[in-house]
Amino acid sequence: MNLMFLGPPGAGKGTQAVRLAEQFNIPHISTGDMLRQEIKNGTELGIKAKSYISEGKLVPDDVIIGMIKERIAKPDASKGFILDGFPRTREQAQVLEGLTRLDAVINIDSRDEQIIKRICGRRVCSECGAVYQESQLEDKNSCPKCQGRVYIREDDNEETIRKRLSEYKKKTMPLIDFYTERGILHNIPDNGTIDDITQNILAVLHTIYDSY
Ligand code: AP5
Repeated sequence: MNLMFLGPPGAGKGTQAVRLAEQFNIPHISTGDMLRQEIKNGTELGIKAKSYISEGKLVPDDVIIGMIKERIAKPDASKGFILDGFPRTREQAQVLEGLTRLDAVINIDSRDEQIIKRICGRRVCSECGAVYQESQLEDKNSCPKCQGRVYIREDDNEETIRKRLSEYKKKTMPLIDFYTERGILHNIPDNGTIDDITQNILAVLHTIYDSY
């Protein structure tokens, strides 16, 4: 099962990808998480990526492509994977096509105002990486799963979100046509709870994998 999540920032790609990866026991490969880890570790790649991320711009293709090639080649990805946040440009999509086959692209279709509200309310656990809405947290500073410190991502402010949305529309949205042409794009409207959206995605996956 090789899946990919497409959609604007804050559409819920990561939230859904984590759930499906657990259910199907395949790795969740998030280029955003990988880049944040590189920044945390102070690596050369992290230093290069930091300024792009904090300005809401895409990190250059060559940096991302090298990173993803290495990740997909790891043994845990041999039975399948869920890509979240990659590819994000036509060049990245073309490179991916040369590396492996995608069974399905799940495009979560969200409205700008909903996204901005959600991203402003997003909180992330610094220990286990769990993602919440501030309104879900009884203790605003601590993760209900592991009691780790909860923080706000550096790029989760309204000014940067608007820039990320503009990058998405210019560079990533064209991938909707790219994957429609290949017959593997599935649109999931973002108009329900997290559980509703998971059920809608699972219904789509049933139709794909039952027909194999
Ligand atoms: P990345 O980390 O990938 O950010 P993104 O694509 O902007 O996506 P987000 O993580 O913001 O949102 P999401 O869709 O995963 O939403 P989530 O599930 O958290 O990338 C960050 C940066 O890294 C980029 O800007 C770029 O600079 C760089 N980068 C990464 N990949 C790259 C690439 N391939 N090429 C170049 N540069 C790259 O949900 C959001 C919130 O909403 C959460 O609080 C969640 O709890 C809540 N929520 C989710 N679904 C629902 C729902 N149905 N109802 C209510 N709340 C919900």
